[in-house]
Amino acid sequence: MRVVSGIQPTGSLHLGNYLGAIRNWAAMQDGLADGEQCLFFLADLHAISMPHDPAQLRAATLEMTAALVACGIDPARSVLFNQAQVPAHAELQWLLNGTARMGWLNRMTQFKDKSGKNREGASVALYTYPVLQAADVLLYQATHVPVGDDQKQHLELARDIAQKFNNDFCTEDAPVFTLPEPIIPPEAARIMSLRDGTAKMSKSDPSDMSRINLADDPDEMAKKIKKAKTDPEPLPSELAGLEGRPEALNLVSIYAALEGSTPGDVLARFGGQGFGAFKPAMAELVVETLGPIQRRFVELKADREALDAILARGAARAREIGLPTLKAAYDALGLVRG
Ligand code: TYM
Repeated sequence: MRVVSGIQPTGSLHLGNYLGAIRNWAAMQDGLADGEQCLFFLADLHAISMPHDPAQLRAATLEMTAALVACGIDPARSVLFNQAQVPAHAELQWLLNGTARMGWLNRMTQFKDKSGKNREGASVALYTYPVLQAADVLLYQATHVPVGDDQKQHLELARDIAQKFNNDFCTEDAPVFTLPEPIIPPEAARIMSLRDGTAKMSKSDPSDMSRINLADDPDEMAKKIKKAKTDPEPLPSELAGLEGRPEALNLVSIYAALEGSTPGDVLARFGGQGFGAFKPAMAELVVETLGPIQRRFVELKADREALDAILARGAARAREIGLPTLKAAYDALGLVRG
């Protein structure tokens, strides 16, 4: 098993990232057997696909590193690094650009969502973003990629690219790439905004009230839950009763994900009660889970030197692990490198 996944260092790590992906990263790291490996990275190369401020990107890369370590990613056991220190990501992307098809990229919903009405003004990087993401995982022969639901389409593309490359340039008994399997949590694959139950909780939402950040202190977390949008009805006792109530469903799903139960279990307990009773219980659970992580995060982010050292060490290991696959890809394509 080789586990690989990434997060963009844009803004702060939020509850959606944590429940949808990072908590799974830590669990997979903790369950590794001898000889198995986890690689987790800051997708800083992806972060330049949207307008950005260089000073903010630099700071966010180190902060996100602190956030991951605070969430339980252990740089002694997992390879923790940022893409920009491992040039093989960008190199392999170029090699894969020859295999990826325009039609495949045209179907990617993220490009449509993020470019919006201004498609002509979108960066080329935003368009070719999924090919870099394929390079990220294929470079390391990833077998498992823990992600939230929104990354499923990108992972399917990575599989298509790997398969076509293997078919076109390799013999059947010596494929260059492994087809990666997405690992998506059943209960928290898609955490929604606290202000709109139909929109994903996202780092780029202009309203900070829409998400719970790891960087928020306990009072802020509790305030955001108290102010979260809901409806006037009490909670139903059965899941079917949440149909057409996206905000209520979201809060119940978050509660279930945090305590490791199901929305049905939560409703069996809170059915018939209003949000006046449910929200304080939820705030307590959020603070109980994220509070200790937030405190570790505050400590870790103060030590910039230690964070730089973690990333440098991780990048050196990642360069080593990726090298044989990069070389095999160049060779398979007939590129002469002396
Ligand atoms: P990013 O930075 O948007 O998010 C990091 C991880 O958090 C998950 N996630 C969510 N899960 C549940 N509910 C939400 N509201 C929510 N918001 C985010 C994401 O699914 C993701 O797992 N393109 C990727 C980064 C990336 C990557 C990769 C991931 C680059 N290369 C290779 C896996 C493998 C991204 O922008 O994630």
